[in-house]
Amino acid sequence: MMEISAPQYEPPPTHISFDGNNNFHVFLSFRGADVRKTLVDHLYEALTVAGLRVFLDSEELEKGKDIDSSLQRAIEKSHILIPIFSKRYAESRWCLEEAARMCRSNGFIIPLFYDVEACDVRYPQRKGGPLAPAFQKHYTHLDRHDENTIEEWKNALHHISSLSGWTMEAESGYEGKLIRTVVGHVLNTLKNVPLDVAMHPVGLQRDKNELLHSLNLSSTDRVVRVGISGIGGIGKTTLAKAVYNKIHGRFDASCFVFNIAATAQNNTRLMDLQGRILRSLLNYQGEVSSADQGKMLMRDRLRGVRALVVLDDVDDRNQLHAVDGNWFGNGSKVIITSRNKHILNLAEVDSIHEMNGLGEDEALQLFSWHAFSRALPDTPYEGVSTRLAKACRGHPLSLEIIGAHLYDKKAPDDIQKKLSSILVKIQAYLESFESVMMDLVTLRRKYFWTLLVIL
Ligand SMILES: Nc1ncnc2c1ncn2[C@@H]1O[C@H](COP(=O)(O)OP(=O)(O)OP(=O)(O)O)[C@@H](O)[C@H]1O
Ligand SMILES: [Mg+2]
Repeated sequence: MMEISAPQYEPPPTHISFDGNNNFHVFLSFRGADVRKTLVDHLYEALTVAGLRVFLDSEELEKGKDIDSSLQRAIEKSHILIPIFSKRYAESRWCLEEAARMCRSNGFIIPLFYDVEACDVRYPQRKGGPLAPAFQKHYTHLDRHDENTIEEWKNALHHISSLSGWTMEAESGYEGKLIRTVVGHVLNTLKNVPLDVAMHPVGLQRDKNELLHSLNLSSTDRVVRVGISGIGGIGKTTLAKAVYNKIHGRFDASCFVFNIAATAQNNTRLMDLQGRILRSLLNYQGEVSSADQGKMLMRDRLRGVRALVVLDDVDDRNQLHAVDGNWFGNGSKVIITSRNKHILNLAEVDSIHEMNGLGEDEALQLFSWHAFSRALPDTPYEGVSTRLAKACRGHPLSLEIIGAHLYDKKAPDDIQKKLSSILVKIQAYLESFESVMMDLVTLRRKYFWTLLVIL
């Protein structure tokens, strides 16, 4: 029997992300015929209730197809990869291919052995082993996959089954217990995973230093609140993530609550928000039955906790009052991002860090990373890229979107043409920069393309 890492519930969880970030916390790979309606269904539910984003593969639906690029991306974008080994896992080429891809990715793999033992997976062709017939079959279908592929599958199983994981046996066969162990362990593991700041972070250091200075990390006699303000897409969340990554390890508990404006519009959502924060900071397992009860709970339980809390994109005083009363322990730091400075004043922040966009060189750099995958454009595109970056006035989201739009234009003429036409469009049609930014924010990426095409 393999070594099992002891589940640790304290100190508790994780960064909570409500949406707007397309990474997954957990990727589940499993053989649908064995466990989809049992273990996986319950595990998925438990992980989701814990506030985690879970990618559930649909191997049955994709039968016969090769593993596709979106699945590959999902593996790459997941922090924790959980292959659930069951008796029929190896029958599926899809599952085996996933296992191989997991090994090639940077994700953190934790295997779960459902009704097989680790050694059955480690030596899948072992005589009499539950996976052996499937592998025998794969060898008779060398028209579908070659021997090298089968070798890679076996190596992947060997590697994964040597890692520390979970077994049903360790939980005396109780599925509920196993699920609790898995959820606790996943939350704990995620606690140490840094947030993904930006695809190509540029020029963050200055803002980061200023914000850290405002947070006054050495002060422990009170709660320090700092606001980050600026128009949509200017980089508020990005800066908050960079600072959070740098300092969250210093606190008893921490949580990053993304996109509050989009996720906490009504009373039920406020309760949800409170419940998630309580779970995240205290591993609170109970229910929050009303926003008022949530406030009472927070007041009662958080008093002694030195916490780092990021409240991202707050746009309403009710959200603020629901989650940020005077209840965090002394020494806590609260970072609030908002497009609306008035909200930050209502929050009685100690200081407001206003974001005004990147400098010209930084803007060109960010644009160039997204357009050409390098820090500076090649000479032929220098002029027009510089003008374009300037036209975006240091606004990261615009630079990112326009840059990315050029990314797949391979021919130099194509790029040059596209660059010039975008520049003309920007200059001709988007006279008020402020309103462009609002358009970007409101319309978001996909609509922005439509806008560009229409223009
Ligand atoms: N300094 C930076 N370096 C690289 N990319 C950045 C930087 N700042 C922001 N970005 C990118 O720009 C985009 C918008 O940033 P972000 O989401 O932080 O803006 P925001 O001010 O929080 O917007 P909103 O008000 O809509 O929430 C993101 O894709 C982010 O990765
Ligand atoms: Mg934001």
